[in-house]
Amino acid sequence: MLSGFISGSPRICGIIGDPIEHTMSPVMHNAAFEDKGVDYVYLAFRVKKEELGKAIEGMRALNMKGLNITIPHKVAVIQFLDELDHLADKIGAVNTVVNNDGVLKGYNTDATGFLQALRERGIEPKGKSVVILGAGGASRAISFILAERGSSLVILNRTWDKARICADRISEIFQSEATSLKLNRGNLAAALSPADILVNATSVGMSPDINETPVTSNLLKPGLVVFDIVYNPIKTRLQREAEVAGATVISGLDMFVWQGALAFEKWTGLKAPIGVMREKVIKVLQRHEN
Ligand code: ATR
Repeated sequence: MLSGFISGSPRICGIIGDPIEHTMSPVMHNAAFEDKGVDYVYLAFRVKKEELGKAIEGMRALNMKGLNITIPHKVAVIQFLDELDHLADKIGAVNTVVNNDGVLKGYNTDATGFLQALRERGIEPKGKSVVILGAGGASRAISFILAERGSSLVILNRTWDKARICADRISEIFQSEATSLKLNRGNLAAALSPADILVNATSVGMSPDINETPVTSNLLKPGLVVFDIVYNPIKTRLQREAEVAGATVISGLDMFVWQGALAFEKWTGLKAPIGVMREKVIKVLQRHEN
């Protein structure tokens, strides 16, 4: 997997989660390190829930430069860190840790990565009406940054209670309007009719269930921005049908690459080679799809 030269003392970065086998982060980051010619290496570690504290202590002891944190550790990791970025603090979840000379600081680049992916397409969230499907960890990061940036939100979830808790918390800490509904056809149609942006933050449509979609095609329309955070398959059924309907489509791949790019920049202090990172992930995903 690692094709570049690794010296005797590279800076070590990595990702911890469970499961971790299918992560694209190592190939993406190692391609970026190689492109920039920096002496860094990125590894994936399967860490069980009960071993999380030890893993973070290991990061300190080994003087690792950075970690990405994924399911199921994004919330639990906070108790082991020294500092939190203000947004990660509000979201209550961390996906990136930076080791600054022994001081571990947590960030949420899922949220900022989502924002970058929107901006890259010239879309500013301020004043936009956004429908968000799902109320899990990813939805929470996205909802919070959109609320902070002045969007009004309708959060729909299969389990309504989770959407309600999320919307209540947002209304409490931001000046933004956030409401919640149970995810069903009628509510979805009503919520989408005045919406500017639809975000799918559920896992519906993800491989291997690639023929599923959270939104029927008749609810998609020109002018709507459809952001599907699923990136495996590269093009989901929702994305395909949104394209046919004339909507503007943003892929979860863009969010994934941007969250990685923003972590890369925090660890190395260098501008991330975003094109190289994107190409590498697409190449690996395509290999898996064929
Ligand atoms: P993530 O960290 O990726 O957000 P998660 O926290 O497990 O993952 O959240 C998954 C989201 O997808 C949840 O909102 C879940 O709905 P529930 O809260 O009702 O479980 C949603 N989801 C998963 N499968 C779904 C399905 N078949 N239909 C509708 N929503 C689904």
